[in-house]
Amino acid sequence: MKTFTTKQPVHQYLLQLKATGKSIGFVATMGALHQGHLSLIQLAKQQNDIVVCSIFVNPTQFNDPKDLEKYPRTLDADSRLLEGAGCDVLFAPGVNQMYDDNEQWHLNIGETEHLLEGEFRPGHYQGVTQVVYKLFNIIPAGRAYFGQKDYQQFLIISKMVQMLKLPVELVMCPIMREPGGLAMSSRNVHLSADDRQHALVLSGTLNHIKDKFTPDNIAALKQEAAQLINAEPGVALEYFEIADGETLHEATPQSKTIVALVAAKVGNTRLIDNVVLAGG
Ligand code: PAF
Repeated sequence: MKTFTTKQPVHQYLLQLKATGKSIGFVATMGALHQGHLSLIQLAKQQNDIVVCSIFVNPTQFNDPKDLEKYPRTLDADSRLLEGAGCDVLFAPGVNQMYDDNEQWHLNIGETEHLLEGEFRPGHYQGVTQVVYKLFNIIPAGRAYFGQKDYQQFLIISKMVQMLKLPVELVMCPIMREPGGLAMSSRNVHLSADDRQHALVLSGTLNHIKDKFTPDNIAALKQEAAQLINAEPGVALEYFEIADGETLHEATPQSKTIVALVAAKVGNTRLIDNVVLAGG
């Protein structure tokens, strides 16, 4: 695996490979890699000649400085995992490679960025689109792989790609789960043994709602889900929404895709999860 920490050299290197007809698959991450990330690398490997992974803890997508500070940084271990997974290129820039001093701009993606996660983490998706736009300009990939766990993020990046006509195909990869059902996340390292136990209410409730789902009982199911989660000690529900998979507004029986999305604090750790209930 070749590792780059600066943008021009990685860009030039990949352009040369591309010119020889090689296809490039890209997995953008913030590191603290787990099996979920590795599943993206695996799919990218199946579908492309060259796989590139970026590791960059993007400061502009953290609305809480404490959250940014405590975000796990495990570059050496990540690098070994990527090597083992057959990743070809790692791009791990420092902040000064990605941002100029006092750089201030963002893309206006429309209302989707202000709903759900956007409401609880104001400015989060502005930071995400800013960095992903920069990464897409540095890494000339034909395909980019993102996890379904950040469903709203996928939707917003898709909107950005459409809006700016970026020449990259986005691939959504399934959520990877730990044996009890907890969605894999870099933040899971912060969960205590008790937190882990309490956190199971999130995937458990999503599964329960999926089993009971019909398009005409959305309001009642939402209420039931909120009750189940609120009854779990150590868990503070932020939202449970049964949403239209394209707009993220509350689903209607006419919605083509319907997704249940949840965010909650378990102990001091904020977790998100989702499940597609219909369509998709
Ligand atoms: O999903 C993530 O890890 C991040 O939001 C991303 C897409 C790498 C942008 O920093």
